[in-house]
Amino acid sequence: MTRILQTTFYPPAPTMNHLAPHRVIYDTDPGVDDAMALYYALAHPDIEVVGVTTTFGNVTVEQAACNALYLLAIAGRGQIPVTQGVAAPLVKASEAPPDHIHGADGLGNLPQRVATHNQLDARTSAQFIVDMARQHPGEITVVAVGPLGNLALALAIEPALPQLLRQVIIMGGAVLEPGNVSPVAEANIWNDPHAADIVFTAGFDLTMVGLDVTHQVILPVHLFAQIAQHRQHLATDTLHHAVAFYANFYSGLYPHVAEIHGCFGHDVLAFVALTNPELFSTATGRVRVTVDGLAQGQTMLRRKDIAYPQSGWGPEVPDTQVCMQVQAQACKDLIERTLMADWLGV
Ligand code: BDR
Ligand code: CA
Repeated sequence: MTRILQTTFYPPAPTMNHLAPHRVIYDTDPGVDDAMALYYALAHPDIEVVGVTTTFGNVTVEQAACNALYLLAIAGRGQIPVTQGVAAPLVKASEAPPDHIHGADGLGNLPQRVATHNQLDARTSAQFIVDMARQHPGEITVVAVGPLGNLALALAIEPALPQLLRQVIIMGGAVLEPGNVSPVAEANIWNDPHAADIVFTAGFDLTMVGLDVTHQVILPVHLFAQIAQHRQHLATDTLHHAVAFYANFYSGLYPHVAEIHGCFGHDVLAFVALTNPELFSTATGRVRVTVDGLAQGQTMLRRKDIAYPQSGWGPEVPDTQVCMQVQAQACKDLIERTLMADWLGV
Protein backbone atom coordinates (compact mmCIF):
# COMPACT_ATOMS: atom_id res chain seq x y z
CA MET A 1 0.00 0.00 0.00
CA THR A 2 1.35 3.43 -0.88
CA ARG A 3 1.14 6.09 1.83
CA ILE A 4 0.54 9.57 0.52
CA LEU A 5 2.18 12.19 2.67
CA GLN A 6 0.09 15.34 2.54
CA THR A 7 1.88 18.62 3.08
CA THR A 8 0.25 22.01 3.25
CA PHE A 9 2.19 24.94 1.86
CA TYR A 10 1.74 28.30 3.53
CA PRO A 11 3.42 31.28 1.91
CA PRO A 12 6.17 32.88 4.00
CA ALA A 13 5.19 35.30 6.75
CA PRO A 14 5.84 38.99 6.11
CA THR A 15 9.33 40.08 7.01
CA MET A 16 10.10 43.43 8.49
CA ASN A 17 10.14 46.23 5.92
CA HIS A 18 11.14 49.09 8.18
CA LEU A 19 14.23 49.86 10.22
CA ALA A 20 11.94 50.56 13.20
CA PRO A 21 8.41 49.21 13.61
CA HIS A 22 5.38 51.49 13.45
CA ARG A 23 4.55 52.39 17.06
CA VAL A 24 0.76 52.26 17.19
CA ILE A 25 -2.01 53.20 19.58
CA TYR A 26 -4.98 51.11 18.53
CA ASP A 27 -8.27 52.96 19.18
CA THR A 28 -11.05 50.39 18.96
CA ASP A 29 -14.52 49.11 19.89
CA PRO A 30 -13.99 45.31 19.80
CA GLY A 31 -16.00 44.03 17.93
CA VAL A 32 -15.20 41.05 15.72
CA ASP A 33 -13.33 42.80 12.91
CA ASP A 34 -11.60 44.88 15.60
CA ALA A 35 -10.35 41.62 17.14
CA MET A 36 -9.14 40.43 13.75
CA ALA A 37 -7.30 43.72 13.28
CA LEU A 38 -5.74 43.54 16.74
CA TYR A 39 -4.35 40.10 16.04
CA TYR A 40 -3.02 41.21 12.64
CA ALA A 41 -1.22 44.07 14.42
CA LEU A 42 0.22 41.79 17.11
CA ALA A 43 1.31 39.28 14.48
CA HIS A 44 2.92 41.74 12.07
CA PRO A 45 6.67 42.30 12.49
CA ASP A 46 6.40 45.94 11.35
CA ILE A 47 3.94 46.94 14.09
CA GLU A 48 4.50 47.57 17.78
CA VAL A 49 1.20 48.08 19.63
CA VAL A 50 2.04 50.50 22.47
CA GLY A 51 -1.51 50.78 23.80
CA VAL A 52 -5.13 49.91 23.14
CA THR A 53 -7.64 52.70 23.74
CA THR A 54 -11.28 51.72 23.73
CA THR A 55 -14.56 53.42 22.89
CA PHE A 56 -18.25 52.60 22.72
CA GLY A 57 -19.49 51.46 19.30
CA ASN A 58 -19.97 47.80 18.50
CA VAL A 59 -20.50 47.30 22.26
CA THR A 60 -20.58 49.52 25.35
CA VAL A 61 -17.23 51.00 26.28
CA GLU A 62 -17.09 48.79 29.39
CA GLN A 63 -17.49 45.69 27.20
CA ALA A 64 -15.00 47.06 24.66
CA ALA A 65 -12.38 47.51 27.38
CA CYS A 66 -13.12 44.06 28.78
CA ASN A 67 -12.73 42.53 25.30
CA ALA A 68 -9.48 44.36 24.62
CA LEU A 69 -8.03 43.12 27.91
CA TYR A 70 -9.21 39.59 27.17
CA LEU A 71 -7.96 39.44 23.57
CA LEU A 72 -4.53 40.68 24.66
CA ALA A 73 -4.33 38.37 27.68
CA ILE A 74 -5.15 35.19 25.77
CA ALA A 75 -2.63 36.16 23.09
CA GLY A 76 0.06 36.44 25.77
CA ARG A 77 0.27 40.25 25.43
CA GLY A 78 -1.38 41.25 28.70
CA GLN A 79 1.38 43.77 29.41
CA ILE A 80 0.07 46.15 26.70
CA PRO A 81 -1.84 49.01 28.38
CA VAL A 82 -5.60 49.21 27.81
CA THR A 83 -7.70 52.27 28.60
CA GLN A 84 -11.43 52.92 28.73
CA GLY A 85 -12.62 55.93 26.76
CA VAL A 86 -15.78 57.64 25.64
CA ALA A 87 -19.08 55.96 26.49
CA ALA A 88 -21.32 58.01 24.20
CA PRO A 89 -21.28 60.36 21.20
CA LEU A 90 -20.21 63.97 21.80
CA VAL A 91 -23.57 65.48 20.82
CA LYS A 92 -26.15 63.06 19.42
CA ALA A 93 -28.08 60.58 21.53
CA SER A 94 -26.62 57.12 22.18
CA GLU A 95 -28.02 54.08 20.42
CA ALA A 96 -28.08 50.45 21.53
CA PRO A 97 -25.04 48.43 20.35
CA PRO A 98 -25.60 46.13 17.31
CA ASP A 99 -25.74 42.77 19.13
CA HIS A 100 -26.95 41.07 15.94
CA ILE A 101 -23.70 41.92 14.13
CA HIS A 102 -20.98 41.31 16.74
CA GLY A 103 -22.90 39.36 19.41
CA ALA A 104 -24.05 40.71 22.77
CA ASP A 105 -20.47 40.34 24.05
CA GLY A 106 -18.87 41.80 20.91
CA LEU A 107 -17.02 38.57 20.15
CA GLY A 108 -19.80 36.46 18.64
CA ASN A 109 -21.20 35.34 22.03
CA LEU A 110 -18.23 33.30 23.25
CA PRO A 111 -19.48 30.17 25.06
CA GLN A 112 -16.93 30.74 27.85
CA ARG A 113 -13.93 32.84 28.80
CA VAL A 114 -10.86 31.72 30.70
CA ALA A 115 -9.75 33.73 33.74
CA THR A 116 -7.31 36.54 32.93
CA HIS A 117 -5.54 39.00 35.21
CA ASN A 118 -4.54 42.12 33.27
CA GLN A 119 -6.13 45.36 34.47
CA LEU A 120 -7.15 48.66 32.91
CA ASP A 121 -4.74 51.60 32.87
CA ALA A 122 -6.51 54.23 35.03
CA ARG A 123 -6.23 57.02 32.44
CA THR A 124 -8.94 57.87 29.97
CA SER A 125 -8.26 56.89 26.37
CA ALA A 126 -7.92 60.56 25.38
CA GLN A 127 -5.39 61.24 28.16
CA PHE A 128 -3.39 58.14 27.22
CA ILE A 129 -3.18 59.29 23.58
CA VAL A 130 -2.02 62.75 24.68
CA ASP A 131 0.54 61.38 27.17
CA MET A 132 2.07 59.04 24.60
CA ALA A 133 2.15 61.72 21.90
CA ARG A 134 3.89 64.17 24.24
CA GLN A 135 6.40 61.53 25.40
CA HIS A 136 7.24 60.41 21.84
CA PRO A 137 6.69 63.41 19.56
CA GLY A 138 6.45 62.50 15.88
CA GLU A 139 6.64 58.75 16.58
CA ILE A 140 3.16 57.50 17.36
CA THR A 141 0.56 56.45 14.80
CA VAL A 142 -3.07 56.16 15.89
CA VAL A 143 -5.08 53.52 14.06
CA ALA A 144 -8.71 54.33 14.94
CA VAL A 145 -11.40 51.84 13.96
CA GLY A 146 -14.39 52.93 16.01
CA PRO A 147 -16.30 56.17 16.57
CA LEU A 148 -13.79 59.02 16.89
CA GLY A 149 -14.66 60.54 20.29
CA ASN A 150 -11.36 59.60 21.94
CA LEU A 151 -9.34 61.47 19.32
CA ALA A 152 -11.70 64.45 19.48
CA LEU A 153 -11.29 64.65 23.27
CA ALA A 154 -7.52 64.21 22.97
CA LEU A 155 -7.48 67.24 20.65
CA ALA A 156 -9.38 69.24 23.25
CA ILE A 157 -6.70 68.37 25.84
CA GLU A 158 -3.79 68.95 23.46
CA PRO A 159 -4.51 71.15 20.41
CA ALA A 160 -0.99 70.45 19.08
CA LEU A 161 -1.81 66.74 18.77
CA PRO A 162 -1.71 66.78 14.93
CA GLN A 163 1.94 67.90 15.12
CA LEU A 164 2.80 65.44 17.91
CA LEU A 165 1.40 62.32 16.21
CA ARG A 166 3.11 60.78 13.20
CA GLN A 167 -0.11 59.89 11.44
CA VAL A 168 -3.70 58.80 11.96
CA ILE A 169 -5.39 56.07 9.96
CA ILE A 170 -9.11 55.61 10.45
CA MET A 171 -11.49 52.90 9.33
CA GLY A 172 -14.65 54.80 8.59
CA GLY A 173 -16.66 56.68 6.02
CA ALA A 174 -17.62 56.13 2.40
CA VAL A 175 -17.30 58.34 -0.66
CA LEU A 176 -18.71 56.50 -3.70
CA GLU A 177 -19.78 53.30 -1.96
CA PRO A 178 -23.22 53.33 -0.27
CA GLY A 179 -23.25 53.50 3.53
CA ASN A 180 -23.96 50.60 5.84
CA VAL A 181 -26.19 52.44 8.33
CA SER A 182 -28.00 54.72 5.90
CA PRO A 183 -27.64 55.18 2.13
CA VAL A 184 -24.69 57.50 2.83
CA ALA A 185 -23.38 56.83 6.36
CA GLU A 186 -20.81 54.30 7.52
CA ALA A 187 -21.24 53.03 11.10
CA ASN A 188 -18.18 54.55 12.80
CA ILE A 189 -18.89 58.01 11.42
CA TRP A 190 -22.63 57.65 12.02
CA ASN A 191 -21.96 56.77 15.67
CA ASP A 192 -20.29 60.12 16.35
CA PRO A 193 -20.45 62.48 13.37
CA HIS A 194 -19.44 65.55 15.40
CA ALA A 195 -16.26 63.84 16.63
CA ALA A 196 -15.51 62.68 13.09
CA ASP A 197 -15.80 66.19 11.65
CA ILE A 198 -13.43 67.46 14.36
CA VAL A 199 -10.89 64.79 13.40
CA PHE A 200 -11.18 65.42 9.64
CA THR A 201 -10.61 69.16 10.11
CA ALA A 202 -7.87 69.03 12.78
CA GLY A 203 -4.79 68.84 10.55
CA PHE A 204 -3.58 65.28 11.20
CA ASP A 205 -1.62 63.42 8.56
CA LEU A 206 -4.84 61.50 7.99
CA THR A 207 -5.75 58.45 5.91
CA MET A 208 -9.34 57.27 5.57
CA VAL A 209 -9.94 53.59 4.94
CA GLY A 210 -13.67 53.46 4.29
CA LEU A 211 -16.28 51.25 2.70
CA ASP A 212 -14.97 52.14 -0.79
CA VAL A 213 -12.17 49.67 -0.08
CA THR A 214 -13.37 47.52 2.83
CA HIS A 215 -16.38 46.34 0.83
CA GLN A 216 -13.96 45.00 -1.78
CA VAL A 217 -12.19 42.62 0.61
CA ILE A 218 -14.28 39.62 1.68
CA LEU A 219 -12.59 37.18 4.04
CA PRO A 220 -14.04 33.65 4.17
CA VAL A 221 -14.70 31.91 7.49
CA HIS A 222 -12.71 28.91 6.27
CA LEU A 223 -9.56 31.06 6.33
CA PHE A 224 -9.99 31.55 10.08
CA ALA A 225 -10.73 27.85 10.50
CA GLN A 226 -7.43 27.10 8.74
CA ILE A 227 -5.56 29.58 10.92
CA ALA A 228 -7.04 28.00 14.07
CA GLN A 229 -6.11 24.56 12.76
CA HIS A 230 -2.58 25.52 11.76
CA ARG A 231 -1.82 27.61 14.89
CA GLN A 232 -3.78 25.81 17.58
CA HIS A 233 -4.28 28.33 20.36
CA LEU A 234 -7.11 29.87 22.39
CA ALA A 235 -6.58 33.19 20.58
CA THR A 236 -7.05 31.69 17.10
CA ASP A 237 -10.03 29.63 18.29
CA THR A 238 -11.62 32.74 19.76
CA LEU A 239 -11.12 34.66 16.54
CA HIS A 240 -12.54 31.81 14.46
CA HIS A 241 -15.65 31.61 16.68
CA ALA A 242 -16.19 35.38 16.48
CA VAL A 243 -15.69 35.57 12.71
CA ALA A 244 -18.16 32.71 12.14
CA PHE A 245 -20.86 34.68 14.00
CA TYR A 246 -20.01 37.88 12.12
CA ALA A 247 -20.00 36.10 8.76
CA ASN A 248 -23.52 34.80 9.41
CA PHE A 249 -24.69 38.40 9.67
CA TYR A 250 -22.94 39.54 6.48
CA SER A 251 -23.91 36.42 4.56
CA GLY A 252 -27.55 37.03 5.48
CA LEU A 253 -27.32 40.55 4.10
CA TYR A 254 -25.25 40.26 0.92
CA PRO A 255 -25.64 37.31 -1.55
CA HIS A 256 -22.08 37.74 -2.90
CA VAL A 257 -20.72 37.46 0.65
CA ALA A 258 -22.95 34.44 1.34
CA GLU A 259 -21.46 32.71 -1.71
CA ILE A 260 -18.13 32.36 0.08
CA HIS A 261 -19.57 32.53 3.64
CA GLY A 262 -17.41 35.40 4.69
CA CYS A 263 -17.30 38.91 6.06
CA PHE A 264 -15.84 42.26 5.11
CA GLY A 265 -12.32 42.94 6.38
CA HIS A 266 -13.17 46.50 7.58
CA ASP A 267 -10.84 47.25 10.53
CA VAL A 268 -7.92 45.03 9.56
CA LEU A 269 -7.59 47.05 6.36
CA ALA A 270 -6.61 50.12 8.37
CA PHE A 271 -3.53 48.17 9.50
CA VAL A 272 -2.92 46.87 5.98
CA ALA A 273 -2.93 50.50 4.81
CA LEU A 274 -0.23 51.16 7.41
CA THR A 275 2.02 48.22 6.56
CA ASN A 276 1.32 48.07 2.81
CA PRO A 277 0.06 51.42 1.50
CA GLU A 278 1.06 50.36 -2.03
CA LEU A 279 -1.99 48.08 -2.09
CA PHE A 280 -4.33 51.10 -2.11
CA SER A 281 -4.95 53.95 -4.50
CA THR A 282 -6.06 57.17 -2.89
CA ALA A 283 -7.76 60.44 -3.68
CA THR A 284 -6.53 63.46 -1.75
CA GLY A 285 -8.87 66.24 -0.73
CA ARG A 286 -10.85 67.99 1.98
CA VAL A 287 -13.34 65.80 3.83
CA ARG A 288 -16.26 67.05 5.90
CA VAL A 289 -18.96 65.16 7.77
CA THR A 290 -22.69 65.88 7.76
CA VAL A 291 -23.52 66.09 11.45
CA ASP A 292 -27.31 66.00 11.35
CA GLY A 293 -30.36 65.60 9.14
CA LEU A 294 -31.15 62.86 6.68
CA ALA A 295 -27.51 62.57 5.53
CA GLN A 296 -26.13 62.42 9.08
CA GLY A 297 -22.77 60.63 9.13
CA GLN A 298 -22.01 61.14 5.43
CA THR A 299 -18.34 61.73 4.62
CA MET A 300 -18.10 64.22 1.75
CA LEU A 301 -14.88 64.49 -0.24
CA ARG A 302 -14.17 67.69 -2.21
CA ARG A 303 -13.15 66.03 -5.44
CA LYS A 304 -12.92 69.11 -7.65
CA ASP A 305 -10.55 71.99 -7.07
CA ILE A 306 -13.26 74.64 -7.16
CA ALA A 307 -13.73 77.69 -4.93
CA TYR A 308 -17.25 76.81 -3.85
CA PRO A 309 -19.53 79.63 -2.68
CA GLN A 310 -20.57 77.55 0.36
CA SER A 311 -18.41 78.09 3.45
CA GLY A 312 -16.70 75.18 5.16
CA TRP A 313 -14.69 74.00 2.14
CA GLY A 314 -11.87 76.55 2.10
CA PRO A 315 -8.11 75.98 2.42
CA GLU A 316 -8.44 76.01 6.22
CA VAL A 317 -9.72 72.43 5.83
CA PRO A 318 -6.72 70.09 5.62
CA ASP A 319 -6.45 67.29 3.09
CA THR A 320 -7.20 63.65 3.85
CA GLN A 321 -5.85 60.71 1.83
CA VAL A 322 -8.96 58.71 1.03
CA CYS A 323 -8.52 55.09 -0.04
CA MET A 324 -10.62 54.53 -3.16
CA GLN A 325 -9.34 51.26 -4.63
CA VAL A 326 -7.59 48.25 -3.16
CA GLN A 327 -5.79 45.18 -4.44
CA ALA A 328 -8.18 42.81 -2.69
CA GLN A 329 -6.45 39.51 -3.39
CA ALA A 330 -3.07 40.86 -2.25
CA CYS A 331 -4.70 42.08 0.99
CA LYS A 332 -6.25 38.67 1.61
CA ASP A 333 -2.92 36.94 0.99
CA LEU A 334 -1.15 39.33 3.33
CA ILE A 335 -3.72 38.86 6.12
CA GLU A 336 -3.44 35.09 5.70
CA ARG A 337 0.36 35.10 5.75
CA THR A 338 0.46 37.38 8.78
CA LEU A 339 -2.00 35.39 10.91
CA MET A 340 -0.52 32.04 9.84
CA ALA A 341 2.91 33.08 11.12
CA ASP A 342 4.33 32.00 14.44
CA TRP A 343 3.21 35.11 16.34
CA LEU A 344 1.73 33.22 19.28
CA GLY A 345 4.76 31.04 19.83
CA VAL A 346 2.90 27.90 18.74
C1 BDR B 1 -17.12 49.54 11.11
O1 BDR B 1 -18.22 49.51 12.03
C2 BDR B 1 -18.03 48.51 12.98
O2 BDR B 1 -19.17 47.69 13.05
C3 BDR B 1 -16.85 47.70 12.55
O3 BDR B 1 -16.08 47.27 13.66
C4 BDR B 1 -16.05 48.65 11.69
O4 BDR B 1 -15.17 49.42 12.47
C5 BDR B 1 -17.61 49.12 9.74
O5 BDR B 1 -18.58 50.02 9.28
CA1 CA C 1 -14.59 48.78 14.78
